[in-house]
Order: sequence, then C-alpha cells, then structure tokens
Amino acid sequence: CGIIGCVGRGDETLDVLLSGLEGLEYRGYDSAGVALSNGDLSVCKREGEIQRLQRAVATDLGGPVGIGHTRWSTHGPPSDDNAHPHTDCAGDVAVVHNGIVENYADLREDLRAAGHEFESDTDTEVVPHLIEDRLADGATFEEAFRAAVARLEGSYALAAVSKDSEAVLAARNDSPLVVGVGDDAAYLASDVPAFLDYTDRVVYLDDGEFARLESGSWTVSDAEGRLLDKSVSRVAWDAEETAKSGYDHYMLKEIHEQPRALRKCLRGRVDELTGSVEVESLAGLDPESVQFVACGTSYHAALFGARLLRESGVHAQAFLASEYATAPPPISDGGLVVGVTQSGETADTLAALREARRRGVETLAMTNVVGSTAARECDRTLFIRAGPEIGVAATKTFSSQVVAANLLAGVVASGDDAREIVEALRDLPGQVQAILDDTRAAKVAETYVDSEGYFFVGRGHHYPVALEGALKMKEITYKHAEGFPAGELKHGPLALVTDETPVFAVVTGDGPEATKTVGNVKEVEARDAPVVAVTDGASDAGRFADAVLEIPETHPRVAPVLANVQLQLVAYHVAKRLGRSIDKPRNLAKSVTVE
Ligand code: G6P
Repeated sequence: CGIIGCVGRGDETLDVLLSGLEGLEYRGYDSAGVALSNGDLSVCKREGEIQRLQRAVATDLGGPVGIGHTRWSTHGPPSDDNAHPHTDCAGDVAVVHNGIVENYADLREDLRAAGHEFESDTDTEVVPHLIEDRLADGATFEEAFRAAVARLEGSYALAAVSKDSEAVLAARNDSPLVVGVGDDAAYLASDVPAFLDYTDRVVYLDDGEFARLESGSWTVSDAEGRLLDKSVSRVAWDAEETAKSGYDHYMLKEIHEQPRALRKCLRGRVDELTGSVEVESLAGLDPESVQFVACGTSYHAALFGARLLRESGVHAQAFLASEYATAPPPISDGGLVVGVTQSGETADTLAALREARRRGVETLAMTNVVGSTAARECDRTLFIRAGPEIGVAATKTFSSQVVAANLLAGVVASGDDAREIVEALRDLPGQVQAILDDTRAAKVAETYVDSEGYFFVGRGHHYPVALEGALKMKEITYKHAEGFPAGELKHGPLALVTDETPVFAVVTGDGPEATKTVGNVKEVEARDAPVVAVTDGASDAGRFADAVLEIPETHPRVAPVLANVQLQLVAYHVAKRLGRSIDKPRNLAKSVTVE
C-alpha cells in the first residue's frame, strides 16, 4: 500500500495528493482515497484504480491539510468501504495505514462495547475510533493519536488528520515512512517518488518514531514525545527518472534503462587493469559462509549469487525469505546473511534478516533504495544503483542485482579469471543495448502469443534465468509459465510438453553444460514442442530450434543478464498483444510489506 500526506500547499493540496498517489500506484491499486481538512473533514475513496478516485473527487473537496492512500488488500476485499482513509463515528478524524494491526479484533471488540460502530472489514478502522475515544476524554489530537498508536500491535505506517487540527500526524513501526521537506510545505509518503516533483530533501523515519507536519515545518519525536534531531538527506533520483518519458509502459522504459543502470552499478567499483573489485561498504568482508534470503525476482538473483560464491569455494546457499525463519538454517561463526531486496521493504525479507541479527549474524542488504528499512537495519549495504523502478514486474533491478552479485563475489572470493569477469562487466551495458535494438523478441512474441503455456529451461548460471523468464511471463501475461533446471525437464515436466507449449532454452558457450542442455532441447523437439533458443551461437542449440534469440558472447557469469533481457522483451510483447495491465498486473504489488 502507499501513503501520501501534504500540508502547506493551500488549494493545491488535493492535486498534490492525487499526483502523489499516481507516483505510488505500484505499491497497490485495489482502491484509493483522500481526506482533507479545513475545519471540516472531507473524505473521498473508491475501489479500483486511482483514475476512478480522480473522477470521483468533488471539485469542492478541499483544504490545506490532507492525506491519501492506495491500497493492496490484506484484511477485507477491495471495496469503497474498505478503501482508506478510515474515519471515526463522528467523521472528524481520518486515518490511512500500511501494514497489519495484529490485535485489531480485540480492539474492535473493546470499541464496540464502548458504542463504536464500524463500516469496514479492515484492521485499520480501529485506529480513528481509538483516537476518537481519547479526544472525547479531552486529549489534544496529538495526545489522542499517540495513545491510539500505543495500543497497536503489529506493523504500521500511519498518517492521520483531524477536522480541528492543521497538522498531519504520522507514526512508523515496521513499515516505511519518509518526510519530504519543502520550502513552505511538508510532505509525507511511504516512498519518495510520491513527492519527488516537489522536493528531493527527505527525512527517513525509524521504527517507533512519530512525525508532525505543519505548514512549512516538521518535527520528529520518539514514543515519549522527545524531539529527535533527524538529518535531512537529498535523494539522487529526479522526477524525470520516475516518469514514463514517452514509453508506453514503465516496464518497457525500465527494460531500456538497463545499460545506464548497469553502468551506474559498476561506476567506481571495478578496476579493469587489475580485475579487482572495490566496494567501500564491503571493505574487509571475508565471510566463512553466506546465506542469501529474498523473494520473487530477487530470489532468482540470490540463487545466482549463491552459485557464484560456491564456484569460488565459499559455502553459500539461497533461501526463500518466507521459509527461512520457519526452520532457521544453521550458520557458522563468521557467517553472513545477504538480503537481496530491490525495495528494501519486503516484509518476508526483513523478517529473515531480523532473524539473522537475532542470532548475532552479520547482515548485508543488497538493495536499490538507500533509505530503505533493509539498508538501515543491516550491518552493511551493497546498493545496486538501478534508479527508481515503478513497473511492478522487476526488470532493471534484476540485472543490477546480478551485476551486484558479481561484485560481491569479486570482493569475497576473487578467482583466476577476475580480469576477464571485470572486462565482461565493462562490456555488458553495450551488449544489453545491442539486444534492445534487436526486434526478434517481438517477433517471437507474435508467433507464440496464443500458446497454451510456456516453459523455460536453463542449466548452471542460466537456471535462475529460466525461473525468472517464467516468473516474468506469468506475472504480466497471466498465462501459465514454468521454469526448470534443464536437467529436471525429463523428471516430470516433460509430461506437460506439447506442440502448444513453446520451450525457451537458454544455452551459452560450448562446454559440457551447453552440450547437455542441447540434449534436453532435442528431447523437447522430439515431442513436437516449439523450441526458442536463447543463445550466443557457440553451441548447435540453434539448429534444433524453431526460433533463435541471439545474445552476444561473454563470460558465463555475465551471460545470464543478456539472456534475461531477451526473455523480458518476449514477456513484455506477449503481454502487450494480450492487452494486459503491464505495469500493474492484477493481484500483485511492487512492494509487499506484509508477511
Ligand atoms: C513483490 C513483487 C516482486 C518482487 C518481490 C520482492 O512480490 O511483486 O516483483 O520480486 O516483491 O521484492 P523486493 O523489493 O524485495 O526485491
């Protein structure tokens, strides 16, 4: 879900909130709403995309103090009633919330007994009623807000407005919130793109902190109300970077931004002459063993990272973050847990990292977002520097994670071929550009758009690419797609292969791995399945394929990025032909802040 707040923009407040919600749409879009205060409180909220809310807001809805929300359902299905903001009985207080109030059922029961009535199925709605209770006892808005927050268990980023106050109040626990510092105005959001058009000066809230925003001023305090001396930082992203810049979709724009993103990831970190990798934040890092934790696309990068380290003799494994804490795997003294997370806010990944910290293990956040929770909680960071990614389906951040995994491997366990790897990394952005200029992926998409389902196979370094190719395909086309290690195909999945199910086979080089994968390709071909070879042409995979997506030759540790770009493009073009909601696929959210 996404939160926006604004004070100090006079009549423009509503516009700021609505455009902020557009900037946050990737965090959820089941429903959206705004609340504005000017002595009266007005609320407008709608199920569906933000455009529905925009059409619904009355032109007279106004007030200089406001909050807004875009929702990804956790409690209660998407509906107008369940959309945020939620209000108290009198309609004097409005609250927006990200996260989960775990003890909401008990609180709701207490409040019901005291005469409160509820309109929604959400956990959030208890909050305005708790505030109302304290206001009735004579508390100020801020006292009532703090008292309400003190009763909550669970995770929250909260913002509240009241008809009698000119402030937006906010609190954070386990869900991100950032204050934007304008000249005469103050902003609040769950993520920076929401207000980047207005200011690039930000203050990140930490867990347990409260913020108070007023016209032209802001304060941050702790749970006891003591003012905190928070530093204001400048974000390096600009508004242009988060706009579509003429592309039909953010996803396509972000696919095309990969050469630039990769250059940024590498800048100042590799020495071509010696092949050495130097990342300041990783100085002195020499772990005995490494466990990667991650979700979704980041998990595929984690699988790749673990393989690189194992190749260099470091004991390394990748775990799905949501499974990690269910039976924490043993780790030796001197071990390192690496959380791979684009957003740095994925609740499952944060929970796994916290489990590692609880056990006294050193942690590293490999993330794209400098002020994110993962970055701030971990002992070390490795920023992937991909720039903001708005499309829900991760593209450029995966490529940057794969490159960052190479950097990590270069620091921790550099091998004999260090120089060749660094040279390959140097050439990578240009090679990605060559693929972007190629039109074959669009043609393959046209040929196979009506297929029943899609399979993706790869071996070794390309196994994570097979998984990622399939995930991308299913996320944005809503068609069935599965990825397998090439060798596993014959152990079950082959039963599903027909002439209606194209198999994308990723094969590079001409070594034993490639030869075996070509063997798997032949097995598929013998079952009449169309084969699309994603290959550098070094093996004879192309000979057995119905279509070839070519990639330039490079080092095996870098080739997965190139193969994956072709698969990104195929998924994009299939989804486009099917008319799917590419940037915001149904049921998915970019940043999932609940476990
Ligand atoms: C969500 C997104 C996925 C993403 C995953 C992990 O499920 O829909 O695309 O890969 O979260 O996100 P992270 O920010 O931790 O990399």
